Parts: sequence; C-alpha cells; structure tokens
Amino acid sequence: MSENTEITKAAVDAVVSDALKLIQGATDLASLKAVRSQAVGENSGITKLSSLMGKLPGDKKGEAGKLITAARTQLNEAFSAAETVFYQAEQNQKLLEESVDVTAAPMTQVLGARHPLSLLQDEIADVFIGMGWEIAEGPEVESEWFNFDALNFDADHPARAMQDTFFVEPVEAHLVLRTHTSPVQVRSLLERELPVYVLCPGRVFRTDELDATHTPVFHQVEGLAVDKGLTMADLKGTLEHFARIMFGPDAKIRLRPSFFPFTEPSAELDVWHPGAKGGARWVEWGGCGMVNPNVLLAAGIDPEVYSGFAFGMGIERTLMFRNDVKDMHDMVEADVRFSKQFGVVL
Ligand code: PHE
Repeated sequence: MSENTEITKAAVDAVVSDALKLIQGATDLASLKAVRSQAVGENSGITKLSSLMGKLPGDKKGEAGKLITAARTQLNEAFSAAETVFYQAEQNQKLLEESVDVTAAPMTQVLGARHPLSLLQDEIADVFIGMGWEIAEGPEVESEWFNFDALNFDADHPARAMQDTFFVEPVEAHLVLRTHTSPVQVRSLLERELPVYVLCPGRVFRTDELDATHTPVFHQVEGLAVDKGLTMADLKGTLEHFARIMFGPDAKIRLRPSFFPFTEPSAELDVWHPGAKGGARWVEWGGCGMVNPNVLLAAGIDPEVYSGFAFGMGIERTLMFRNDVKDMHDMVEADVRFSKQFGVVL
C-alpha cells in the first residue's frame, strides 16, 4: 500500500485502487466485513490521507476535500454493492437449504382439558375430604359376593336381575363388572378400622344401550359412614351440606321412602336445584339409607354397637342436570371441544 504525504489525485486514486482490490478479494459477507477496517477504517489509506487535511493551507482544503469525499463515496458504493451481492447469495443459499415442504402436515399442539366428569368427581371428593372422610377404591371386576351377596341381595332377589349385570366368563368364577360402587362399602368395612367414613368414586357397568340418557359404562360416587350412634339425622345433615356445596346455598334435599337390600330404611334422594335451567326444581339425585344390619354382620361388625348410613349417586347424571348437558353422547365421545367448555383445569 502506498504511503502518501500529499493529497493529490494520484495518491487518492492509489489508495482507492488498493481498497477496491481488498473489496474484490472478499468472497462472502464475513470476509467483506473482515477487510472493511483495512479498506476504509481508521488505519486505511484513505483515512490516513484525510488526516493530512488538517495540515493543508486554507486554499488547498477545498480541492483536497472534494477528492477525499469522492474517494470515500466510491469506496462506500463498492462496499454496498459487494454487500448486496453477498447478502443475496447467502439468502438464496438459505432458501435452498431451508426450503419448506408446504404440503407436509403441520405439527399442531392442541391444548387439552380434563374431562368434566373427572373434575366433578374431584370436586365431590374435596367436599368429603374437607369433612375428614377418606377416599376408598375397589376393583371394577368384582366378585358376585361383594356386588350382591354381602349387600344382602337374596340369590333370587329381583333386585339382582333389576340391575342388568355383565357377568364375566367363566360363570363359575362368579365375577361381574360391578353394577354399583356399593361393594366398596363392604370392602372398606373389612379393610379398615372403625369408625369408617369413606367416599368411593368409580366406574360401574350395566347392560344399557348408549342413548341420550344411558351409557353401559358410567360413574358413581358412594358414601359410607359407620360409627357408634349414627342416625338418619347424620345422613340428612351430611347430604344437605353436600347439596349446598354442589348446588348453592339455597339447595336442600328431600328423602322419599324406597328400597335397597343393603339399607334399611332406604330412601330416594331428591335435591332442590335452585340454578336449574328453566327454574328451580326438585331433581332425583341418588339413593341412600341406614346401612342394613345384615351388611354390618357380613363385614363382622356388631350392629348392636355400630350403625351407619350410606348414599350413592351417578356422576354423569349429576353433571347432566347441574351443568345442563343434554346428551350422554357428549360425555362419552371424548371430544375436547366438549371438555373445554368446562375450562382448562390442570
Ligand atoms: N347402589 C345404589 C344404586 O346403584 C345406590 C345406593 C347407594 C343406595 C348407597 C343406597 C345406599 O342405585
């Protein structure tokens, strides 16, 4: 590179020509950037030449200034031109390498939602856990003894046929898909220390066809309390508290005489649903009663010392009238759009 002491056209042309050679030597954006300071930066020929300006007498400054400015302009243009070329080349290369197949299926990540039945089941469990109750579970494939016999169903009792049962083969094994959660009552009494306060949510099975209000697989929640001195008043008080939490402070309950082999006396449980669509009304909610002494005996408990109450209701049914779900199909089809209406709760 030429060393100059004067700003002449020849000197300027020489540094410009050196700088242009550097620019032309670059092969991509990175190498162009690397030669920038050498070609036009602080230590470049053109910068050194311009630094001589200060020493020039006033009348020479105009001429020299023009030469320097023209040189800088030329170099800047050369830089921009090279930059544009390299930038374009790199873009084209990127487009080639990162080409997108627009016909490929997109990766969609749809946020799910917990099923409203699970949410409701948890909500119910919370009410009872809040009262110090425990959660108990039992098997879905249940022995006939727990599902019927221990619950005081006679061998030829019509109630056994009334609950349309799925029997599991071989028939001699005496296994059924449990038709209700009540067998967990007996299991809990056999497994736990008294007193027992348990809530048993779970899946149950009956030979119903799927239609707007029936499904062969559904859920129930069973409550069982066995302690000294429990009466029907304890049953009513517990159900009333439960109803208020589920349906609001104006909810109340009503018991109508009924029959279940495992409770005596037995009752149908209705709830006054203040927020019902179309106006407040009574709705059938479940069954309940005082635990039949024969059930206590089957679990080895002295009915002279202990008494208990029990209740059970369908979770699908509860969701239907509580949240105005009209069709059972919505609950079993697992369409996330249905679940999402109840909020995305984790
Ligand atoms: N198991 C009964 C049913 O499925 C409901 C029930 C539970 C009734 C507990 C009384 C006591 O219909």
